[in-house]
Amino acid sequence: MTQIKNNIKVSVPEEEMEKQREYAALTKSILHARNASKQPLAFVRTFGCLANISDSEQIKGMLMDMGYVLTETVEEADFAIFNTCAIREHAEDRVFGNIGALKPLKQKKPQMFIALCGCMMQQEHIVEKIKKSYSFVDLVFGPHVLHKLPEFLYTAMNERQNRYEISQTDGLIAEGVTRHRDSAFKAWLPIMYGCDNYCSYCIVPYVRGREKSRKFEDVMEEARALVALGYKEITLIGQNVNSYGKNMYADIDFSKLLESINAIEGDFLIRFMTSNPRDCSPRLLDTMAACEKVAKHLHLPFQSGNNRVLKAMNRGYTRENYIELIEYAFRVMPNLSVTSDVIVGFPGESYEEFCDTLSLVKQIRFTSLYTFIYSAREGTAAATMQDNETREEKVSRFTELTTLQEGIARDRTASMVGKTFRVLCESENKPGSGVLTGRTQGNVIIEFPAALKHIGDYVDVLVTEAKTWILKGIPVNNR
Ligand code: SAH
Ligand code: SF4
Ligand code: F3S
Repeated sequence: MTQIKNNIKVSVPEEEMEKQREYAALTKSILHARNASKQPLAFVRTFGCLANISDSEQIKGMLMDMGYVLTETVEEADFAIFNTCAIREHAEDRVFGNIGALKPLKQKKPQMFIALCGCMMQQEHIVEKIKKSYSFVDLVFGPHVLHKLPEFLYTAMNERQNRYEISQTDGLIAEGVTRHRDSAFKAWLPIMYGCDNYCSYCIVPYVRGREKSRKFEDVMEEARALVALGYKEITLIGQNVNSYGKNMYADIDFSKLLESINAIEGDFLIRFMTSNPRDCSPRLLDTMAACEKVAKHLHLPFQSGNNRVLKAMNRGYTRENYIELIEYAFRVMPNLSVTSDVIVGFPGESYEEFCDTLSLVKQIRFTSLYTFIYSAREGTAAATMQDNETREEKVSRFTELTTLQEGIARDRTASMVGKTFRVLCESENKPGSGVLTGRTQGNVIIEFPAALKHIGDYVDVLVTEAKTWILKGIPVNNR
């Protein structure tokens, strides 16, 4: 048994979880009493990152415990829930557009129940807007109280009045929530929640609360269960996985966790998202290199190549630290694939400073980049910083960056032709096409002809052709 420092409380008490299971059972019997001949249908739509995708699996699990059957068609749903993302204005606009589209549906089907949850709903100004302009929404709750969905649903159904459940308390992790996994061979495994880094542009620490790690035993138990169920790929998720266990354990950190999961017997791959350069140590890179089940892919967002901008972003590392880390990573893992996130147009960023981002991209030669134009988020430090650049100028820099990266990606994928990669068959690229898609360990998409029965299996694929972002290939020694 590992010792948690100062015996801090980590999980929601078991009595509370038991209470939620009782609410779920009660709701199920009420729904059944209302209409015994037809099971109610639930629609879940997810916006945002892996944290939300993983939370939505729990939402689906809880809904199924309450007797719902999942549907992909919102029009036929008795219950619809949107799990929302607040990371950029564009993400929020998409959510509002989608909520607006539900209004005529609700008018046609007044008994339909509509709920909103996720990161947007942890912001007061958003909840005010929903109350005022979207009063047809029945239930609103934030990410800290996700496990209370059965209770909210039960009370909202009985009281028949709108509920807005925005708890400011956070800090405890709900273990044992039923999860309906979207895949039978690829699993998300949350290892930590929240973020304490307060990058000056970012809303996540405000909506997801303080950084907290799951107990080592809880993570290990779930990992073992996934392997026993035949899962072939386990992705460890958190905003900042490198700081797993910080302030909690004296003897367990992210490297130790990786080693422990790597030691579970079985044929599976371990991925993780996201790492922050601030806490990415050479020891972690050595561990990645030594663990044969850990994918040789590192997603390490650098955001900007300029030290003044990095400081203003409160990122906690310099351009030189970042380059040194990546050089070390390539030294210990010559075949490593590195991907990253970049923000263009941070307040006050000059064209010369942006050029430092371009030069970093040229130097590292990333496999792929997720590029974003800065979006001001209410309540963050950067939102009050002077921003003189026009939108047109930011878009032009953004295009310059994506064009540069496109050339690099083209060269990178071209150099993969003729090589063979072990790939997990994930899905058919188009229905009936006979072509499956998967990803290399380095996270490059690859398409190849194979029978549907191979979905969920590993196959060796020889790359025959490279497009900019995807590879095409043929399976070799495909059993
Ligand atoms: N925890 C992760 C990032 C999660 S958010 C990390 O620190 O690496 C995913 C990405 O969205 C960030 O890496 C950043 O590039 C982008 N992002 C976050 N806030 C943003 C904002 N206000 N405007 C534009 N992009 C943003
Ligand atoms: Fe946001 Fe920074 Fe935390 Fe990532 S590390 S979630 S960018 S505050
Ligand atoms: Fe969005 Fe929340 Fe993730 S703001 S990016 S869904 S943590």
